Amino acid sequence: MHGGHTGETTILVFDSGLGGLTVLREVVAARPDARYVYVADDAFFPYGRHSEATLIGRLVPLMGELIATHRPDLVVIACNTASTLVLPHLRAAHTVPFVGTVPAIKPACAGSRTKLVSVLGTEATVKREYTKALIRDFGQNCAVTLVGSAHLAALAEAALEGRPVADADIAAEIAPCFVADGARRTDTVALACTHYPLLKDRLATLAPWPVGWIDPAPAIARRVVSLLGPASGAACGPACGLAAAAGQRGARDAFVFTSGRAPSPALADALKAFGLCRAATAAVAKV
Ligand code: DGL
Repeated sequence: MHGGHTGETTILVFDSGLGGLTVLREVVAARPDARYVYVADDAFFPYGRHSEATLIGRLVPLMGELIATHRPDLVVIACNTASTLVLPHLRAAHTVPFVGTVPAIKPACAGSRTKLVSVLGTEATVKREYTKALIRDFGQNCAVTLVGSAHLAALAEAALEGRPVADADIAAEIAPCFVADGARRTDTVALACTHYPLLKDRLATLAPWPVGWIDPAPAIARRVVSLLGPASGAACGPACGLAAAAGQRGARDAFVFTSGRAPSPALADALKAFGLCRAATAAVAKV
């Protein structure tokens, strides 16, 4: 393990912003013994608005800086918009193992009874060839509606930061997911952006009819465990995960905002609820 400090396993969880926190919490629950560095590339948020060439040019060197600074044993790219594009580039450039996040089209289609499934992601994710290939390979006989949302990731960030977000704004973003075809209606929506589970309760309330919302985070946590092995150490009974959920991980974990901004008091509280109580001391170098 090259994870730095005390021989502890270090896991770096990366997103364009705060959406990766929904993945972090599942990975922490599965490996509560590890040390975590959460990186939000907020200087570049939202990724959904950048061209493919711009994102590749940003992410490959930025990840090099982050790996050199934090020495992770594994990196989770907790972002569909990045994973569906840059994972092969990251794996070619860096030796550390990467776990990506891609639209959960296979389980969504496998579990749908009405065979009407929607994939809700950023505008970039739903346009990707990668996503279309998943539908061709795993769509089975489902009719899959791709819904690119321009604003939902930013609305999720606003809500997490304690700013008011109108129901109508969320409802407008999710409306195209709900398709009726004769007697059949959409019964499953794959959440293909890690920000969206931050709004899960409101999505369920604002949906025109009940659907299953597929969050890929538990599957990502299982993949991390399959690569790194299960939690080790006496401190890691079931209570350890609960402590993590309650934001009691102390100063072990750290967060990085690439913009260098200090979180507002409301955001600092939200980060604490995910176990993140301090900014990493070594700031990321400018790339
Ligand atoms: N959280 C990111 C994802 O899973 C995207 C948000 C953004 O547009 O930056 O796709």
